[in-house]
Amino acid sequence: MNKFPENFLFGGAIAANQCEGAYREGGKGLSVADFLTGGTVSSRKPGFQLKLDENKYYPRHRSIDFYHRYKEDIALFAEMGFRCLRASIAWSRIYPNGDDEQPNEEGLQFYDDLLDEMIRNHMEPVITISHFEMPAALVDKYNGWANREMINVFKRYVHTLFERYGDRVKYWIVFNEINAAVNDVKGTHEYAIHTGIHFRPEDDRYQLVYQACHHQFVAIAETVKMGHEMMDGAMIGGMVAFIPTYARTCDPDDVMKTFTANRKKGVFFLDVMSRGEYPYYFETYLKKYGIQLERTEEDLKLMKQYPIDYVAFSYYMSLTESAHPENYPTTDGNVFSGLKNPYLQYSRFGWSVDPVGLRYSLNWLYDRYQKPLFIVENGYGDYDTFENGMIQDDDRIQYLNDHLKETAKAIEDGVDLIGYCEWGPIDLVSAGTGDMEKRYGFIYVDLDNQGNGTLKRTKKKSFDWYKEVIATNGGSLK
Ligand code: BG6
Repeated sequence: MNKFPENFLFGGAIAANQCEGAYREGGKGLSVADFLTGGTVSSRKPGFQLKLDENKYYPRHRSIDFYHRYKEDIALFAEMGFRCLRASIAWSRIYPNGDDEQPNEEGLQFYDDLLDEMIRNHMEPVITISHFEMPAALVDKYNGWANREMINVFKRYVHTLFERYGDRVKYWIVFNEINAAVNDVKGTHEYAIHTGIHFRPEDDRYQLVYQACHHQFVAIAETVKMGHEMMDGAMIGGMVAFIPTYARTCDPDDVMKTFTANRKKGVFFLDVMSRGEYPYYFETYLKKYGIQLERTEEDLKLMKQYPIDYVAFSYYMSLTESAHPENYPTTDGNVFSGLKNPYLQYSRFGWSVDPVGLRYSLNWLYDRYQKPLFIVENGYGDYDTFENGMIQDDDRIQYLNDHLKETAKAIEDGVDLIGYCEWGPIDLVSAGTGDMEKRYGFIYVDLDNQGNGTLKRTKKKSFDWYKEVIATNGGSLK
């Protein structure tokens, strides 16, 4: 049947640092994302240098100029019939240095206008509080999330957002893909993008990163508490990049290795945020590696009392794992890499295409946490080229069609799903590579990897396709 519930939130997802540009306008301070160059820095080997080099190109500085063109872009989303739009707030527009005494009114006004525009166009705003960027000054001053003081700094920022936008925003997501933080230990640079830590050679990176995660978990609980106290009916979500990893074979050693890998990559983060406590296997892990976390009784009580209201996740692909990885080919992936799956096709960027994995994930997550779920990212990154004046993005249509069909099946299975946001409904800068030419949009933006282009927006074939999917509530899926 492929039919979705009447009130199902179909829409799209974008992130401030990947689309807004205007990195020095409206009183904005520098964020860690402003230091990312194109092509070389990968989110899977995250890092940056805290210094701008005038000879380098920084794709996020102008990006697709959503800051000045959001009305035009939202009008296009509205034409597709979007019922929601997931966008993030750039922390450094609100608090340029992160811990300023007063928020920046011009930044607050920008998001006032953006939210009003969404609402005028009948879109439910879904707001990410921190999407892969934090004010760069916090790295220098506090060593990022390694410092406990960050909880207070973040609370002030969140309080400002709830006070100002709480009348219009019901769905909040605290940190984008919080589990990406584990990749910070592998960074090839001194500075880690997700936790904002400046590593010194003598540092135990695991110790610092897990301490940073603890501070983020407490910050999430504080956010849930504040959200419930300050707004009626607010839903505060925790989010991970969910990448189901299957055993490469049914060899029990492969199965066991896979089980552990899944915990470490994503399940651990969801266990803590959803159940409000650290799982037993994490305590064992800390002992085994001699990691000593500073956690107070109050922290643990707060976390237990204020778990997240819903589970938000991105889903792009799946991986496989083995006890003998050397025997198998590897593959790249969203946030994490792993082993290839011989049963799946791969995109031109080497990510597996696994629609059934989405139905599996939805059932798995609902079974484990029994909280409403929200697919806040799913999409297909590809090189798009014009043929006879049009982009025929049939591979993207196929990918989305198949993933939405499996989503409909999961709803039929009984999963409580709030909505579905396609990632990057308009082409934007890639988080992983800083490239512009890895495109996800229904709307093409004339801009290349070097920053050349007019920024003109053009509808792709998938534009009308998605419009039809929404108009028919999934009835048009094939
Ligand atoms: C998710 C992020 O990991 O994947 C987005 O939340 C990102 O910010 C998206 O853009 C797609 O990844 P990439 O690397 O292709 O941009």
